[in-house]
Amino acid sequence: MSATTEPKCPVSTGKRPEDFSLADPAVQSSPYEFYHTLHEKCPVYKVPETGIYLISSYPELKDALDNYGTFSNVLERAGVLQGENAKVFLNTLDERGWKHIPTLQRSDPPNHSRYRKIVDRAFNMKQVRNLQPRMTALVNELIDKFIDRGECDFIEEFAFPFPGTIIAELVGLDGSEWPRYRRWAENLLAYGTRVMTVEELREAAEIELEMQHTYAAIFEDRRKNPREDLMSALVMAYEGDEPLTMHELQNLMHQFTAGGYETVPSALNHGIWTLIRFPEVAEELRADRSLIRNFIDECLRWEAPVQGLYRTAKTDTDLGGTHIPAGSLCNVRYGAANRDNSQFPDADKFDLHRPNSNQHLGFGAVPHVCPGAVLGKQEMTVAYNAILDRMGDLQLAAPMPDPVHRTSFGFLPMKQLRVKFRKLA
Ligand code: HEM
Repeated sequence: MSATTEPKCPVSTGKRPEDFSLADPAVQSSPYEFYHTLHEKCPVYKVPETGIYLISSYPELKDALDNYGTFSNVLERAGVLQGENAKVFLNTLDERGWKHIPTLQRSDPPNHSRYRKIVDRAFNMKQVRNLQPRMTALVNELIDKFIDRGECDFIEEFAFPFPGTIIAELVGLDGSEWPRYRRWAENLLAYGTRVMTVEELREAAEIELEMQHTYAAIFEDRRKNPREDLMSALVMAYEGDEPLTMHELQNLMHQFTAGGYETVPSALNHGIWTLIRFPEVAEELRADRSLIRNFIDECLRWEAPVQGLYRTAKTDTDLGGTHIPAGSLCNVRYGAANRDNSQFPDADKFDLHRPNSNQHLGFGAVPHVCPGAVLGKQEMTVAYNAILDRMGDLQLAAPMPDPVHRTSFGFLPMKQLRVKFRKLA
């Protein structure tokens, strides 16, 4: 890596990074031309308006994710909960609930390793495998509700309620209470991604208090009456370790609640939209279900639900020919690395048989690699199997909006997906 003091962005023919803005909803929704321009011209690019460094190409992104000593998950500058208005919110939690403290995703090893060990124990493969019968029953119940209509609002009738109900049950609620979980998750994502008025922040604090006290009561119950579930595992998982405090438990729940809400629905929406765009892929999958595993990986590579998250440079460093001063905010662009032609030849092509789809960075990488990946993949496998069994000739029932996605800097949430189909079973 060469040491330069300014981003090295040679201007050649075609477009320049400056010709795009990630604040533009059209670029957010379809960022791929921008990503290729970055790969070609400036794999680590300082956005002129914000000073944020976008890390876009596969090798540089892997370097940054591996090098957590330099690219830290502890953030000082990111987030919108800052300034006078935020005090209303933060004081309310401090006085009547549990104030935010950084754990897991907002920590670096060795602190991170302590949280991660407990979370991995709680989120183990066996526990997820045991959920398969419940997932299958739920998916069929949801499909039963619209199958005779021959069409559905896929996002509202399937993509949200399916994983939402599963998570609600995992965190100790009754499945029928999933709209409560949804309200909590939407609240966390809202104040985490846009600046709010004092009034909005006051309301946001009340919703979060309801969430915190519900989780606290479930933890207290599991402490006294442990079960074979996630909440018991979190509260009891401390053999040989420091037990987690209620502040730490609350922060972990904050991450599970927000982390699982939009991601799996986004993956499912893009999966179905892919089947609609490429009916030959649907036919291949219907004939050979073992290909579903690759389909899931290729979808996560092609249209990553989490396009980018933040890191802070702890020290001065050089990456991809660009100098990054200590204290800079960096955006690790998983969605861009997944379209890097140097790693995935002809990266813009959806290829069900791509031999290295599973090298995508849609779930991040160690040490922060997504702990919900096994759960999410199992949900997708169950969902795609049931959809292929029961819904044939998948088509759009209404044209996709333009842009296709809601405004978001880091995620890829679809606005609308109305689907029509032929009932098979
Ligand atoms: C398709 C579905 C999903 C995608 C694409 C996804 C994506 C990601 C990514 C990219 C990261 C890395 C964060 C980083 O590098 O800082 C991550 C971490 C995380 N995800 Fe997911 N996720 C999904 C599902 C879930 C689910 C279902 C849950 C919870 C139930 C969840 C909870 C978390 C948590 C708690 C972390 C932080 C882990 C750590 O810092 O050690 N995710 N996820």
